[in-house]
Amino acid sequence: MENTNREKFGSKIGVVAAAAGSAVGLGNIYRFPIVAGNNGGGAFLLIYLLILLLLGVSLIVAEFIIGRRAAKNAVGSFKKLAPKTAWPAVGFAGVVTAFTIITFYSTVSGWTLDYICRSVFDNIRGDNLETMNANFNALINSSWRPYLCQALFIIMTAVIIILGVQKGIEKGSKIMMPILLVILLILLVRSLTLNGAGEGLAFFLKPDFSKINVDVIISALGQVFFSLSIGMGTMITYGSYISKKDNLVSSAVSICICDTMVAFIAGMIIFPAAMAFGITPTAGPGLVFNTLPMLFGQMHGGYFFCLIFFVLLAIASITSLISLFEVVVAYLVEEHSFRRRNATLLTLIVSIVFGIFVTMSLNEHSTLKICGETLFDCLDMITANYLMIISGMLVVLFVGWKMKKADTIDELSSGGTIRSLFNDLVYFVIKYVAPIAIIIIFVKKILD
Ligand code: PHE
Repeated sequence: MENTNREKFGSKIGVVAAAAGSAVGLGNIYRFPIVAGNNGGGAFLLIYLLILLLLGVSLIVAEFIIGRRAAKNAVGSFKKLAPKTAWPAVGFAGVVTAFTIITFYSTVSGWTLDYICRSVFDNIRGDNLETMNANFNALINSSWRPYLCQALFIIMTAVIIILGVQKGIEKGSKIMMPILLVILLILLVRSLTLNGAGEGLAFFLKPDFSKINVDVIISALGQVFFSLSIGMGTMITYGSYISKKDNLVSSAVSICICDTMVAFIAGMIIFPAAMAFGITPTAGPGLVFNTLPMLFGQMHGGYFFCLIFFVLLAIASITSLISLFEVVVAYLVEEHSFRRRNATLLTLIVSIVFGIFVTMSLNEHSTLKICGETLFDCLDMITANYLMIISGMLVVLFVGWKMKKADTIDELSSGGTIRSLFNDLVYFVIKYVAPIAIIIIFVKKILD
């Protein structure tokens, strides 16, 4: 019964579309420039691309293998493949991580909603940095706007999940994601032709090797995991919907390419524009939410581009939130016999309650701080830079060392129908390269 529900979700939405929808989101357009800005720009980009090439595809494939082999949620998959062991705890950690991400991801998703409303009345575009800053600060310090927007956003996500209009989303995203890409390309041209864009471009593209240290490497690793939605059960859950015939490796490659392209273009837009407008690359959230409205203020047709852009950003963020919800909901349905609707409602209510605290921590008067950092930043850092990476490492160890080699190869070759050198390479990376690389980075961090 529950299985049929899950199967339906999977077959309707189309797994690669769903997985790419999960990967492409605020992580690419909002988080990537901020993390890159805080970690030296070009140096970060270089490390990010290296990690992506080395580990990205293999980690997605490893999660797909677990999910497709077991045809279960993140916890159930480990239970089925390694009964009576502690491995299901890795799946459970994934469910907790997914829930945690929902609480802070929806904060930023809520901001996109606020920016959409204000774009309609055309009161976010402009050319004055002080006004932009004041606008953004007014939003995060308001006593109701960010909470209302966040709650509305989570409710919208839950309604979509309950109504089961995934088909609409799939069709919608096939049209809307290319439009998002076109708008990004238009913004790219505008940004690169601004006076003073060169400095920002150099910051983003020219690696300064002296800036590379273990923290930059961990941030890049965390960003790769966050951006590709790995290390918390999403790709295990989506993997369970993939048909036995599909090629896991080529699906993972497509997802990586889409995801990286969007992040790279976002960086190429934000840094040149930010520098041209006098915004420092380390400005944090304001980097994106102040730079873009100023860029729209400099464009012909800026009103429309601005409105459409924030609508598309909201949509990109909904498809990611859906995938996070799906991890929690599939777990509640399959492991605790919840009905799908009740599981969704429970996740909705609990995430709004926790989410409000997270959003509150960004208010300038808030005392919700841990070691001087806001709750928002702490959760973001702990999930991306630690939980997801550790869980990703356990996933590759599981696939490389705990699962039967014959099963892994069977999944990689889709029942022996796809033979390619790439499969062997991916297997080698999963078994040796990925765990060793991650361990080295962490040991270095501890010794630092
Ligand atoms: N990958 C998404 C993004 O880049 C965020 C996400 C993380 C979604 C983890 C699902 C799981 O926006």
